Amino acid sequence: MSDKRIIRFGVIGCGLMGKEFASAAARWCHLTDIDFAPKIIAVCDANPTATAWFTDNVPSVEAVYNDYKGLLANPDVEAIYCAVPHNLHAQIYIDIIQSGKHLLGEKPFGIDQEANRDIMKALEENPQVIVRCSSEFPFYPGAQQLIEWVRDQKFGKIIEVEAGFWHSSDLDPTKVINWKRRIATNGEYGCMGDLGMHVLHLPLRFGWKPRSVRALLSQIVHERPDGKGNIVPCETWDNAILACEVEQGDNQFPMVLSTKRIAPGHANTWFIRIIGTELSAEFTTKNPKQISYLPYKPGGVQAWHIADAPYKSVYSTITGGIFEFGFSDSILQMWAAFCDELVHRESPLRPSFYCATPEEAAHSHVLFTAALASNRTGETISIDWRN
Ligand SMILES: NC(=O)c1ccc[n+]([C@@H]2O[C@H](COP(=O)([O-])OP(=O)(O)OC[C@H]3O[C@@H](n4cnc5c(N)ncnc54)[C@H](O)[C@@H]3O)[C@@H](O)[C@H]2O)c1
Repeated sequence: MSDKRIIRFGVIGCGLMGKEFASAAARWCHLTDIDFAPKIIAVCDANPTATAWFTDNVPSVEAVYNDYKGLLANPDVEAIYCAVPHNLHAQIYIDIIQSGKHLLGEKPFGIDQEANRDIMKALEENPQVIVRCSSEFPFYPGAQQLIEWVRDQKFGKIIEVEAGFWHSSDLDPTKVINWKRRIATNGEYGCMGDLGMHVLHLPLRFGWKPRSVRALLSQIVHERPDGKGNIVPCETWDNAILACEVEQGDNQFPMVLSTKRIAPGHANTWFIRIIGTELSAEFTTKNPKQISYLPYKPGGVQAWHIADAPYKSVYSTITGGIFEFGFSDSILQMWAAFCDELVHRESPLRPSFYCATPEEAAHSHVLFTAALASNRTGETISIDWRN
């Protein structure tokens, strides 16, 4: 489609994830059949080296700020991507929302539940802005296949669900500490705040809100080098296993959610496995091309099938169906979904799957806060979703 509607973006936080957006925007020609495109015209970071990468690599950047309030005052910017440490989410997200600019904000949408409630209040007072929470993994074609099967109720009675996000670079005790391993900047949630929204996006979208949680949180590496010759405390939870009980209609099932920074052998594995009486299925980014499934009819054979998932994305692309889909493709798809909602609002071009909502992020805070209480008390915590 020619004459695309250009969405003028500002980026606040030009680190790892800020650059991923720049890269996705730079290869927008990858997408077909859409009538919108992002253009990054302004960037802000407290660290000048981070903004320098943008001025060196993104020709559309017209304005550079070291204070985000300057960027928010720029009337040419209509939407923001904000990817800053968690302790800054509440203040910056609230100021963005109150400035009337649309926002794709990084998870966990506030360092804790109180910060998240403040963000939600600002949103309630400014319903005209489109706000979504970053979460890209469900855009993998294999995950989309599972989503379709859940929607079509192919699983029968659900027996159990397991979903997780596993890393393992922290197995190396010589790895230098960063803001994600400090409570002041990452928050009490530890690995749950950092990785948990990725794990919860699909369960929450499917309506699988746990009615209780028993959490086991572990701290494995207690100190790390700070890169300046000192050994400093590493304060946050490394791994979290949440045993949840889900009730959906007359179906009750266990759901185990795990976020791990120390899962040996896993660089960046996101997975979901749904076990049901009529179908079981699993998708993991460990095998990004494959989907495993076991259809079952009474008396029939119980055999797992493993099939290559074709490159069939939510937003169509120039890539042929035989090729592989990867992390940067999932980021591109997430951005297409956000821009689609921003431009088409009530009737997006692809309504089949959209970005994580602020309500879903708020629900993740309800679960993580209950998980902290469970780990503290050693008890199963009931969750009242009405609060
Ligand atoms: N969606 C994903 O897959 C994914 C992956 C990693 C991180 N994240 C999230 O992205 C966010 C940022 O993480 P990251 O890995 O990009 O971190 P990062 O440390 O690479 O980047 C953060 C940037 O924020 C900048 N910054 C700090 N204070 C600032 C301020 N006051 N004003 C402007 N800029 C400031 C830092 O200088 C840094 O460049 C976090 O919320 C994190 O949870 C998401």
